[in-house]
Amino acid sequence: MTPLTKIDHLYFKREDQNITGSAKDRALPLQVQNLIQEGYTSAVISSTGNAAISASFYCQQANIPLTIFVSPKIKEEKISLLKGKIIKSPKPISDAIKFSKSNHAYLLRQSTDPIAKIAYGQIATEILMQLPNLTSIFIPVGSGTTLLGISLVLPENVKIFAVQPASNPTISSAFVTQYTKENDTITDALSVKYLPLKREIDAGLLKKEMPRFAEFASAAKNEFEARSKLWNLLNHYELLNLFDEKPWDIYKITRSIRGYDV
Ligand SMILES: Cc1ncc(COP(=O)(O)O)c(C=O)c1O
Repeated sequence: MTPLTKIDHLYFKREDQNITGSAKDRALPLQVQNLIQEGYTSAVISSTGNAAISASFYCQQANIPLTIFVSPKIKEEKISLLKGKIIKSPKPISDAIKFSKSNHAYLLRQSTDPIAKIAYGQIATEILMQLPNLTSIFIPVGSGTTLLGISLVLPENVKIFAVQPASNPTISSAFVTQYTKENDTITDALSVKYLPLKREIDAGLLKKEMPRFAEFASAAKNEFEARSKLWNLLNHYELLNLFDEKPWDIYKITRSIRGYDV
């Protein structure tokens, strides 16, 4: 279990204390175990950072040859941490996908491997043991895989804040429309262009917010405007069945969808 560090009133979950120094160690050992069980004998990943470092470590431990596709812009000091066959490519993601198909290599991509999503739930399980009265959690988001894994385990009453750089707010911009756009970011790990899990994440977060939206829509001064905005959002995520429900009923429905006893 990774420790918590308390600074002022905030607790930091120290995922840097995992073996290779990041939360990726939650998923990669399980993904490697799964690829062996499924009969694969090699793996491929496209990453410039923590995921590739973690994949290198666990593939080496399991004697699985790993091919790593990286962008030509990768910094040399990062390359020195990677153990595997490194291929520089201007399109590392699509090349890794093609490579996995043509070489029958297991694709260790976090956002498309369901094992990864489930593995990140460990972080939530630990936090609930360490902080049983948790009220809110802030999660840095790139592809959103970590956020989704954590949100599937947390109880409904815990507020989830998706934290993204204002240069690339792929998920948070659906919820917060007024923000100052930035051109640069210091967090290159969070600037993910393609998000295979985007719909699932947006719909999940939206379902969590629904009771509050419904309350807002019925209390808003201009109920027509509030409801037409809500209608568009729900229609987009195929959640129109919740449109006319009362906040408490929505709460009960969304809990039962996720397998809780209401
Ligand atoms: C340090 C750090 N924080 C957050 C993230 C975001 O993770 P996810 O892609 O699961 O949203 C990453 C992903 O690479 C990361 O390296």
